[in-house]
Amino acid sequence: MENKTHLVDEITGHRRMRRNRKADWTRRMVQENRLTVDDLIWPIFLIPGTGILEPIPAMPGVNRMTVDKAVEAAKEAADLGIPALATFPNIEMELRDETGSNSLEKNNLINLASAAIKKAVPNIGVITDVALDPFTSHGHDGILRGNEIVNDETVEQVALAAVYQADAGADIIAPSEMMDGRIGAIRQALDAAGHQSVGIMSYATKFSSAFYGPYREAISTGGLLKGDKKTYYIDPANGTEAVRDATLDVEEGADMLMVKPGLPYLDICWRLKEAFGLPTFAYQVSGEYAMIKAAAANGWIDGERVMLETLLAFKRAGCDGILTYFAMDVARHLARK
Ligand code: PBG
Repeated sequence: MENKTHLVDEITGHRRMRRNRKADWTRRMVQENRLTVDDLIWPIFLIPGTGILEPIPAMPGVNRMTVDKAVEAAKEAADLGIPALATFPNIEMELRDETGSNSLEKNNLINLASAAIKKAVPNIGVITDVALDPFTSHGHDGILRGNEIVNDETVEQVALAAVYQADAGADIIAPSEMMDGRIGAIRQALDAAGHQSVGIMSYATKFSSAFYGPYREAISTGGLLKGDKKTYYIDPANGTEAVRDATLDVEEGADMLMVKPGLPYLDICWRLKEAFGLPTFAYQVSGEYAMIKAAAANGWIDGERVMLETLLAFKRAGCDGILTYFAMDVARHLARK
């Protein structure tokens, strides 16, 4: 026994990592990253009508909600200290068309929600997406001409939609459609319309991922989508290309960057934070949420602990915050502690 101790001391030179891990209080002293409610952005799904909460089967615990319910949800979120919401509309099928023209309707679902939320709960941030996929009959993020998602025409429409979203009260515009030149165009359009203080959180590195499945169910684009989004989203194999793409967004005026999906792309979070030092966010997307929920429902993992561990991992990877469907659960958990 004594000999063994000597052997380990010889090997470690008396450096023992476990000293700092020996008790709860030492572990708390040396903990490098912490999750707080300020790290959370809550994505919510909107539907037309009033008084309806509609469960999304592939995302247990997540509901689509009408604007009045979204206002109630915003109040609850603000009371818990969540800084911001991100809204995604499930647009009625009859309003969807080839060009996503409803995105330019000033009183469309997403804009009605922004106006109502900002009126009732002025101190919660509202982040809106300008991608066209909720509005198009083909489920693509841009305008489809023949077989092509046309870039420049989409950028013009997205920039105008951003102005209407800002007019309705959106605080941060978050374009997720990955068209080239969109950040610069949106910045110019916002400034020209007097919206200098409205920020842009770029979905700077959005990968062509299979993790978006449940989201496409939530906004009913899954069945519509023809083909895939590989001509505009980034290949999951490419990290350096992702950094280059983010560089352009920074040059064009992005205030914040986002990486999407989250957990499989922590290397990208780290690289962007190191490269630019901008506020950097990760989107823990629907498929990531669904996997945790499904495994937990089967008793295969401890859902709450896995949820907290994944979110802390984003902090360790350099993120300043996380868009997560767990936001309310985490906020309640942190409030109980
Ligand atoms: C599309 C968009 C997507 C998500 C948000 N906006 C991906 C897509 O369907 O292509 C995914 C969010 C999630 O999976 O949680 N502009």
